[in-house]
Amino acid sequence: MLRAENILQLIGRTPMVRIGKLADPNGANLWAKIEYMSPGHSVKDRIAVRIIEDFEREGILKPGGTVVEATSGNTGMGLAIVCAVKDYASIFVMPDKVSDEKRHLLRAMGAEVVICPTAVEPDDPKSYYSVSKKLAEETPGAVLANQYFNPSNVQTHYDTTGPEIWEQMEGEIDAFVASMGTGGTITGVARFLKEQDPSIKIWAADPYGSILKAYKDTRKMTQGHPYLVEGIGEDIIPGNLDIDLVDEIVNVNDEDSFAMSRQMARKEGLFAGGSAGTIMRVAIDVAASMEPGQNVVTIIPDTGERYLSKHFSDGWLRDKGMLSREMVSLRRLRQMKSQELPTIVSVAPDATVREALEKMSAYNVSQLPVLDDERNLGSIRESNLLGAALEDGATMDLAVEAVMEKPFPSVEESASVAHSVQLLLRHQGIILTKDNRPVGFVTRHDIITFTDGK
Ligand SMILES: Cc1ncc(COP(=O)(O)O)c(C=O)c1O
Repeated sequence: MLRAENILQLIGRTPMVRIGKLADPNGANLWAKIEYMSPGHSVKDRIAVRIIEDFEREGILKPGGTVVEATSGNTGMGLAIVCAVKDYASIFVMPDKVSDEKRHLLRAMGAEVVICPTAVEPDDPKSYYSVSKKLAEETPGAVLANQYFNPSNVQTHYDTTGPEIWEQMEGEIDAFVASMGTGGTITGVARFLKEQDPSIKIWAADPYGSILKAYKDTRKMTQGHPYLVEGIGEDIIPGNLDIDLVDEIVNVNDEDSFAMSRQMARKEGLFAGGSAGTIMRVAIDVAASMEPGQNVVTIIPDTGERYLSKHFSDGWLRDKGMLSREMVSLRRLRQMKSQELPTIVSVAPDATVREALEKMSAYNVSQLPVLDDERNLGSIRESNLLGAALEDGATMDLAVEAVMEKPFPSVEESASVAHSVQLLLRHQGIILTKDNRPVGFVTRHDIITFTDGK
């Protein structure tokens, strides 16, 4: 549809794309439905419009009314869009772990935002569940969207997301992988798909810390613990989750979810949120365990733009102790370093030892590559030069090429920091290259400083 009467008509009907590079080529085909291509950039637009229109039909929401919801942000955005078009007021109650971007976004859409602590029990009066209920009761003309228990949520996915997937895949689906927040997506889609073909296996990806996997496996309520991925996993059993439709639940930790989310951006050009990383981590493994020619369908719930200050920020990840060396390219390290130093400090082969020592002292470094134009000829170390000069004062006036050692190894700067660790165990530094030309220099010290950050 290219022309619509209002933005609400453009919700849903999202595209499906093959995950070509991250998926194992020897496993099943892997596909992702990109929900961030909906107007509010998340899967929650679908339920927002349906919930409000069901309230209108039932006469629960009247003109000039207010919509209240407990939301980690995306449902708020969907509801805010609908409220804007339909002239309702909106109040959203969010846990304090939610990114600043999401708060700003909702305020920009004209909504009121109330923040509550994450680390309290769900029945605590300060929890975001309790606060939203109270606000809906006390505000005249208000309704609680109640996405965790409102049956319109599951019905939306049964009526739209499920049939769209079936149609896009022409009925050729062997497994579906999603996450569980309210349970709406997985329950509605699984119910629809299993009605079409009961052999389709439903997998759920769930953060460590959520109680849902333990609940499925034992039917017992356990104690959850906090985690950082937003929008999925629970410390309650959502009324909209039919856990019997889920065949298997796999836990994923924050670090793996965030690493995968970042890889999706860099390898597939899919700029998605952390929960997409949680789901994709599981979907890749599921597809790898299946046969070529089979099809695994997964879902990308929201856009990465809501997490620029979170897992897409190296500083934030480092503060959380999750900036792994696999996540950072040598180019990124060079860019950080070049704020303090020229890109590459080197010395020419015909410079004197005296000049080389002065240069090291000026830049406060203890080794330098010897470059002739762009040719990597050798290396010098301050301690060796000083030792030689101590033995024979004439060394100071020799050309560097007369005393230099073997060149430092070169690595393409697109490689990860992890890739350089083995080399740096054997060498003092490495030269970063781009298209075989030297563009930077990295030492052991740089890597330790960058990943430690203290
Ligand atoms: C970012 C994100 N991913 C996934 C989900 C899960 O979707 P559902 O609530 O339909 O289970 C949510 C829901 O809150 C979400 O905000």
